[in-house]
Amino acid sequence: MAKLTDVVNMEKREEIAVLIINNPPVNALSSGVRKGIFDRVSVAIEDVSVKAVVITCAGRTFIAGADITEFGKAPQAPSLDVVFDLIENSRKPVIAAVHGTALGGGLETAMVCHYRVSTATAKFGQPEVNLGLIPGAGGTQRLPRIVGVQKAIDMCAGGTQVVAEEALKEGLIDKIVEGDLLTGAVNFARKIIAEGRPLRKIRERNEKIEEVKGKREIFEEARKTFGKTKRGFDAPQANIDAVEAAVNMSFEDGLKKERELFIKLMMGSQSAAQRYVFFAERECVKIPDVSAETPQRTINKVGVVGAGTMGGGIAMCCANVGLPVKIMEVNRQLLDKGLGICRRNYENTASRGRITMDDVEKRMALIQGTLSLEDFADVDLVIEAVYENMDLKKEIFANLDKICKSEAVLGTNTSGLNVNEIASATLRPENVIGLHFFSPANVMRLLEVVRGEKTAKNVIATSMAFGRRIQKIPVLVGVCQGFVGNRMLRQRGRETQKMILEGATPQQIDRVFFDFGFPMGPFAMGDLAGLDIGWNKTTSEGETLRDRLCEIGRLGQKTNAGYYDYQPGSRTPVPSTLVEKMIKEYAAEKNISQRVITDDEILEKSLYPMIDEGARILEEGIAIRPSDIDVIWIYGYGWPVYRGGPMFYADLVGLNKIYDRMLEFQAKEGDFWKPSALLEKLAKEGKGFKDFRLGSRLTH
Ligand SMILES: NC(=O)c1ccc[n+]([C@@H]2O[C@H](COP(=O)([O-])OP(=O)(O)OC[C@H]3O[C@@H](n4cnc5c(N)ncnc54)[C@H](O)[C@@H]3O)[C@@H](O)[C@H]2O)c1
Repeated sequence: MAKLTDVVNMEKREEIAVLIINNPPVNALSSGVRKGIFDRVSVAIEDVSVKAVVITCAGRTFIAGADITEFGKAPQAPSLDVVFDLIENSRKPVIAAVHGTALGGGLETAMVCHYRVSTATAKFGQPEVNLGLIPGAGGTQRLPRIVGVQKAIDMCAGGTQVVAEEALKEGLIDKIVEGDLLTGAVNFARKIIAEGRPLRKIRERNEKIEEVKGKREIFEEARKTFGKTKRGFDAPQANIDAVEAAVNMSFEDGLKKERELFIKLMMGSQSAAQRYVFFAERECVKIPDVSAETPQRTINKVGVVGAGTMGGGIAMCCANVGLPVKIMEVNRQLLDKGLGICRRNYENTASRGRITMDDVEKRMALIQGTLSLEDFADVDLVIEAVYENMDLKKEIFANLDKICKSEAVLGTNTSGLNVNEIASATLRPENVIGLHFFSPANVMRLLEVVRGEKTAKNVIATSMAFGRRIQKIPVLVGVCQGFVGNRMLRQRGRETQKMILEGATPQQIDRVFFDFGFPMGPFAMGDLAGLDIGWNKTTSEGETLRDRLCEIGRLGQKTNAGYYDYQPGSRTPVPSTLVEKMIKEYAAEKNISQRVITDDEILEKSLYPMIDEGARILEEGIAIRPSDIDVIWIYGYGWPVYRGGPMFYADLVGLNKIYDRMLEFQAKEGDFWKPSALLEKLAKEGKGFKDFRLGSRLTH
């Protein structure tokens, strides 16, 4: 048979036409695939020798979704609707044969077929919600008709997947094929023909939705649940609306409603942000001068120095993925304490059913405690996580230099010290790199990989790969005070501290942050982390409100008092009259007059200095690209994904607007508001950070 397209081929197994989609890597439904399916199915329907059609995929998976690179571009014919109408209305049975994952448009394709078979390992899902969308080609209308409303809500609004066995139980597939999928699918097709089974259309099956007609409470409950677990996200709610439409409307009207909701989300800023983040995450492993082919060092054993807050968490990250790790402390008591915390963390996870007790033992067996650095002679990677003290770190690196094998990577988890200076304590600075984890290290996804002046390219490549191996999102940054995340955070802190003296309250500022989408505001965060981090009792001179709070023992949640009061055993912040009084006294002392500060001003004054600092970071080449900064803020600091990160957000606001506001603040308050040269340039050219091209300093 002549080839119609490269990506969809058809072969005949006697009376069965087999369509094979071959569009690596994941058989996305690109325009070529849509056209290929349309043309091939049309031919099969007209071919009198064909009795049934099987649709299957080559490679590692069935269709795993739409081609998201086509999103936001002019639609290319044929649309999915047209292809789906052809399949569903075919007068010959069409059978989907699924392996790997049938996701998004892939599951929608399978659902317009009259029957579905799969391998035992196949999975099914509608993950559009993760990109801020709903299924756009009938997924929300067909799925509840097969699996019922509750399951459809879980799958569409929650993005959960089901495996073949469950899919069979739910009626989502008709058979699990043992052995060769295609042979099984063809045999299944023959059976259907032989038995004269009907052409089943899911759109016509109403039993499961009839059951819930008039039961609005199911949807209200779901809206409430997702309102909490996915606070601020529009897409889960829209998915629930669409499934509700399947119950209350005709199939055709439900489809229209689904389309309407889909287009609204597709045109909105949340989905744009979520799609941007999807690509940004994949982009950050690309380093201009460190090619993907750069040889990597083998990491089979890790050593962690210090079993404190960070060291324990880092050791757990290694054990979680089966990497043996040695962890060293100064004495038995501290070592036991650190190991005990690791065990308790694992046991808590097991008690929530996420891992088994067997997993706890396996992981703990991978973490071996030691009191001697000499034991690190055979490790491939060291991560130092001792106190933040330059002399101590240099001493440890000088020792590691003597003990570790020559090709070992030597990492430091410092959050603020100069990595180049730490590296200078060794005779092999090319092997030294910053590996900046975030607290709690076993939970937070971000890893800032800090490239020193002399760090070797293969050490960078190895560290980035190690980050991915332990399931982190590694982002390469350069050496400067605070690297990327904390450097920007400091700017935010400067303004929020100023604003509470000028009349805003901690609770007002925290509410503005919470409403913006952060899990909590800076003051609640400070109380949670402990106000005494980086504070020194002996040198404290009451220079900031934080100093004064620490001086009277208000160290945050751990002392039931910080910026807020806390009832013993409770983590709920209660505004404090004492702190309010302290703020007023402090402001009076400094001759700062108090005024009403609007929520808008709080947001501008908190975010614009961060954005401007981000611009400076790009100018200096400390971050490679704006999207790397955004990834850092999303995975390290709780920036809401649906707002894309500070640099993406800045482009949405408009750099000219931010620039103008900063000039106004500069005129009123002083030169620390002076915009950076990059912000000025982009604003004056009417551009955004999206137009920024790769920096240079990171490429030596
Ligand atoms: N805690 C955070 O939020 C956070 C986040 C990112 C990075 N960091 C950085 O991580 C590092 C560790 O911070 P932490 O919060 O885990 O501190 P921590 O005080 O909880 O732990 C430090 C541990 O190092 C041990 N130690 C000290 N000297 C040692 C030596 N010579 N050999 C072996 N162990 C030694 C101490 O006994 C202590 O248990 C610091 O550089 C810090 O800046 C901390």
